[in-house]
Amino acid sequence: AAGPREFRLTLGTGSARIAPEPYPETEVWAYNRTVPGPEIRVRQGERLRIVAENGLDEPTTVHWHGMRVPNAMDGVPGVTQDAIAPGDRFVYEFDAVDAGTFWYHPHQRSFEQVARGLSGALVVEEAEPLRVDRDVTWVLDDWRLTEEAAIEGDFGNAHDAIHAGRLGNTVTVNGRIPDRFAVRRGERIRLRLVNVANARIFGLAFAGHEPLVVALDGQPVEPHAPEGGRIVLGPAMRADIVLDMTGRTGERHTVTDTFYEGLEYRLTDLAYGGEALRERTPDWPVALPANPLAEPDLDAAERHEVVFNGGMMAGMRMQGADGREAGSMMAMMREGSFWFINGKAATGTDMEPVLTLRRNRSHIISMVNRTGWYHPMHLHGHSFRVISRNGVPTARREWQDTVLVGPEERVEVALVADNPGDWMFHCHILEHQAAGMMAVIRVA
Ligand code: C2O
Ligand code: CU
Ligand code: CU
Repeated sequence: AAGPREFRLTLGTGSARIAPEPYPETEVWAYNRTVPGPEIRVRQGERLRIVAENGLDEPTTVHWHGMRVPNAMDGVPGVTQDAIAPGDRFVYEFDAVDAGTFWYHPHQRSFEQVARGLSGALVVEEAEPLRVDRDVTWVLDDWRLTEEAAIEGDFGNAHDAIHAGRLGNTVTVNGRIPDRFAVRRGERIRLRLVNVANARIFGLAFAGHEPLVVALDGQPVEPHAPEGGRIVLGPAMRADIVLDMTGRTGERHTVTDTFYEGLEYRLTDLAYGGEALRERTPDWPVALPANPLAEPDLDAAERHEVVFNGGMMAGMRMQGADGREAGSMMAMMREGSFWFINGKAATGTDMEPVLTLRRNRSHIISMVNRTGWYHPMHLHGHSFRVISRNGVPTARREWQDTVLVGPEERVEVALVADNPGDWMFHCHILEHQAAGMMAVIRVA
């Protein structure tokens, strides 16, 4: 058999043209000097060998978000590996077991490292790719820029940490403020949407088009029109959609982010130009083949609960990282924690697992959000089925690796714990993660 596919990721500083002229370029931290980092593209079943070289002034790691890798390749400093010191390198090697849309990013001070530009898409193609005219990736990001297009350096401030995270003022697609995306009548596009923003939840509406969602978080889903006409993606989430281009030359159809009421944001336009490809879109199938995931047995599943709390709630008593009661917000901020999962906050000091899942058994985890905020909750090393919300079974029981848990919501997920190791379970609003909303789930 052929050896692994080799890739090199060199981390360093550089500048990127995020905002158009006459704005200056933006100083960023980048993989291979590009923002986002290079798209890594392999075939399902291939083995990847990625040499990560740290040219930054601070330690880092690379995490392969959504990839079911062995624990030692998961890129979590202090848990699965030592952080890669400045000037050092680390070699990651693993198989691409699932086909789909994934991504990579640092897991060390990610609230700053990701916000400065470190993230990239990782696409694993199906053995038989979907028949489309174009396969396009949109890495969606959100930046907090100054008038001079410089990244604001107020990372991890208390306000962002205890509210909705670091929301920016500038949205980019593939690292640029987009104006138009050129399309042709009659073409069918597979669009891979990847939300790499620290905190922004996208609710994408495609005016004049009916997108079909064919995969979520890299895992195929029965093709369907998005609920409410928009595709909701919390931080770290991905959706693969199929779009049939039916407009006429000269038409422009706006793609809008509609998640935050009153803050609609025009992302870009689909601009029709050139020759039509054909009269009608062909009747190609859009359903993707399933990945080799073990099906959880819901009747036999062991049940667990994880409760999310935040320090702003009145009358709460919570445990600090060292187990003593942390009664006040000031005490929590001193401890570096504001958010808690079952009273724990894995901010580097408390890495004892919050749950232990027996290996190769089915498990149902109820996520109970006792806060007034959204939390996109992510589990490493596994995908889970989202089986219910507030007690109501979900229509498609989609496989995800990150699930948006709304204010005061209860979400149940099911999985087979078939990947042994210590796995991070955290909110992917990176400021929440840094403020304690992270725990270890052990599979043993
Ligand atoms: Cu995408 Cu632990 O992260
Ligand atoms: Cu992850
Ligand atoms: Cu959160």
